[in-house]
Amino acid sequence: MEVILADDYGFCYGVKRAIKTAKDNKDLSKKVCTLGPIIHNPQMVKALADEGIGIVESVDEMENGKIIIRSHGVGPSIYDAIKAKGLELADATCPHVKKAQMSAKTLADEGFKVIIIGEKNHPEVKSIKEWAGKNSLVIGSQEEAENIDFISKLGIVAQTTFSAKAFSEIVNILLTKSYDIRILRTICTATDKRQSAAIKLSKEVDMMIVVGGRNSANTTRLAQLCTEHCVTHHIETVDELHDDWFNNIKKIGITAGASTPDWIIKEVYEKCKTWQAY
Ligand code: F3S
Repeated sequence: MEVILADDYGFCYGVKRAIKTAKDNKDLSKKVCTLGPIIHNPQMVKALADEGIGIVESVDEMENGKIIIRSHGVGPSIYDAIKAKGLELADATCPHVKKAQMSAKTLADEGFKVIIIGEKNHPEVKSIKEWAGKNSLVIGSQEEAENIDFISKLGIVAQTTFSAKAFSEIVNILLTKSYDIRILRTICTATDKRQSAAIKLSKEVDMMIVVGGRNSANTTRLAQLCTEHCVTHHIETVDELHDDWFNNIKKIGITAGASTPDWIIKEVYEKCKTWQAY
C-alpha cells in the first residue's frame, strides 16, 4: 500500500512546548495539575496522568502544589487566583496566544473597542476576551460582522487558529464599520500550513486518514477539508481502522491535528503500510 504523510501534520510548536513544560514540571513530591486538559487528545492526557500529572478544572480545586497553564492561555483573573492561593505556576501559554492576549490588552488600553475574530466558546478566545476587558466582543462570522453598529475606535485581533481566509472576509466587512481601525493579525501559520498540506494531499490520494482527538477542533476541520476531495476517515487511534475501508484503495494520505502525538500517527502509518497483509 502506498501511504503518504502530509507535508505538515501533528504537533505544532506551542503544543510541543506545553507538553515539555508539563513533563519538566513533573514532581511526585507534590500535586502537579494542568488547568484543563493540556491538549485535546485523550491518549496524551492519559499518558501524562500515568506520569502523575493530573487535571483540575478550576483553581479552586487546588489547595497547594503546582498548576500548569496550557497552551490556550488564561485571562488575568486566573493568574490572580493562582497568586492569591499561593500556588506555584508553570505557564505553558503558547507565545503566539500570549501575543494575541497582549495585543488585545494594548488596544483596549489605548481606547479601542476590541473585536476578537474567533469562536466564542474556544478557551483561547475566552482568555483573549478577558485580557481585552469589558469593551470587547467576539465575532465568528460575516453575518455577525454585518450586524454590528458603527464603532468610533475599532481594534481587531484574531484567534490564533482562525482561518486566514475567513479572517480577511470578516475584516473586509468591519472596514465599513469604523473610520479609525487598527488590525493586529494575530493568526498563527501552523494551522494554515497543516490545512494547505492536507488539502494538497487529499487531491492526490484515494483516501485520507485524519488522526486526532474527536474533541480537537483543528483535527475535525482537517477532516472536513479532506472530505471535499476524497473519502476521508477521522480516527483517534489505530484500532479504529476498518478492513472494508481499504477495498480498491491504492494510495492513502495521512494527516493529523496539532494536538496528535507522534506515536499515534506512527502506529496508523505503519498499519496502513502493511494493510495488504491483513
Ligand atoms: Fe501556538 Fe499556533 Fe500551536 S498558536 S498552540 S503554535 S497552533
